[in-house]
Amino acid sequence: MADSSNKPLGAATTGAGAPAVSDRNSLTIGPDGPIVLHDVHFIEQMAHFNREKVPERQPHAKGAGAFGEFKTTGDVSRYTRAALFQKGAVTEMLARFSTVAGEAGSPDTWRDVRGFSLKFYTTEGNYDIVGNNTPVFFVRDPMKFPHFIRSQKRLPDSGLRDSHMQWDFWTSNPESAHQVAYLMGDRGLPKTWRHMNGYGSHTFMWVNASGEKFWIKYHFHTNQGLESFTNAEAEAMAGRDADFHRRDLFDAIARGEYPSWKLSVQVMPYAQAKSYRFNPFDLTKTWSHKDYPLIEVGTMTLNRNPDNFFAQIEQAAFSPGNTVPGIGLSPDKMLLGRAFAYNDAQRVRIGTNFHQLPVNRPKVPVQTYMFDGNMTYEHSGNAPTYAPNSGGRPWADQTGTVEDGWEADGDMVRSAYALHAEDDDFGQAGDLVRRVYNDDQRMKLVEQVVASLNGVRSPVRERVFEYWKNIDPDVGRRIEALASGAE
Ligand code: HEM
Repeated sequence: MADSSNKPLGAATTGAGAPAVSDRNSLTIGPDGPIVLHDVHFIEQMAHFNREKVPERQPHAKGAGAFGEFKTTGDVSRYTRAALFQKGAVTEMLARFSTVAGEAGSPDTWRDVRGFSLKFYTTEGNYDIVGNNTPVFFVRDPMKFPHFIRSQKRLPDSGLRDSHMQWDFWTSNPESAHQVAYLMGDRGLPKTWRHMNGYGSHTFMWVNASGEKFWIKYHFHTNQGLESFTNAEAEAMAGRDADFHRRDLFDAIARGEYPSWKLSVQVMPYAQAKSYRFNPFDLTKTWSHKDYPLIEVGTMTLNRNPDNFFAQIEQAAFSPGNTVPGIGLSPDKMLLGRAFAYNDAQRVRIGTNFHQLPVNRPKVPVQTYMFDGNMTYEHSGNAPTYAPNSGGRPWADQTGTVEDGWEADGDMVRSAYALHAEDDDFGQAGDLVRRVYNDDQRMKLVEQVVASLNGVRSPVRERVFEYWKNIDPDVGRRIEALASGAE
């Protein structure tokens, strides 16, 4: 029968490269007869379709991203010897932005923290910064992370999201106060991904060419200006265009409006960590800018959309464990927990050899003893598969003190931070609410917290009022009054 479309015929192939017989009509015994099993092309199409998704990311499922470059403009060589941060270096990179709790199809404009993931394809291997649009986090021990995420996701019976569960977790873990005070403010509803800042959030280590160590924090400030939605705007947008942030980024880059962010770091001399007012490795705290002012590093610009969302964004694999010479981790327990979590998640989400995919592959030669497994693409021919070997294949053999390490404190313990004078839970949250927010923002915060109490039952409801009074007595009183209909 003649084909009615105007598509070119004959060019399509099977996965094996032979001409495809038909991408439109299956093979049957007579026009109304059964489909035959030896219609191999049809069976392949059906079977592949059943396997064409990978599981979504456990947190941060909804997101999108783009490629770009990072240019180092400041001289920070006295703090790090990392090649990408030497003045004049230009490094190709990938960014992915996301919400935390929503699933892959959820609206971009639900109130949430936003993920800010960066992969730098450096001359010394891939370096990833996997941060958020806030400088702090809800908890400070990785043991609590799965519990936190479950409390933000869905109820086991109805499958619904639930404010009661969220506030139950937050008020039972008062170290969340600082991040919750950010979340209930403007940061919880960025207008677009282009209009938000990014932070490495944790404290990291930098090491210079002489081996001197520093503690640092990353700040990416948007050059587009900080902008946010009101609750009403965000809710309307969630109904009108669930993919608003994804679309905004893609369209802006397609128009040639390349968003950019300026990177600065705060630098703390290595020895000062022990005596600082609070534990500088506590992820629920920010460092005072007076104590540690921002130092310019460079600018990241996103200038290239993905050619294929699935291959380059869905299969992108970021990990805080991906570091390069001159950059290390820190004793922040959250960061240490994350150093394990990501590649493990990606082995199950994408596959054992996820690191061989073009989007994840470093731009430098890879010489690894990780072998075989599903979908092996790169291989080392018949080179020795073991180390050490006498076949001339190199291996690594570092011993002794580790360049990017630190002295451990001693006995094995399970501890919550409480050794420094200001290791409390509510102090910085109170500063944020009192000193950073203006009257208008404080009023919006009060209204937003009250709006989020819909469905929150006793005793969690009373705990929420206490929580906010601990952050700031006046704000707490106003929240209680408005929630009780007295204001
Ligand atoms: C112990 C604490 C944490 C654990 C165990 C954890 C675990 C995970 C896992 C398993 C994923 C999915 C990875 C994938 O499938 O590719 C993920 C994604 C992500 N996490 Fe975490 N996370 C933790 C804390 C944090 C913190 C503190 C931040 C930010 C400061 C953060 C930011 C992100 C971002 C931005 C993504 C999305 C990555 C992407 O764009 O692909 N996470 N996390």
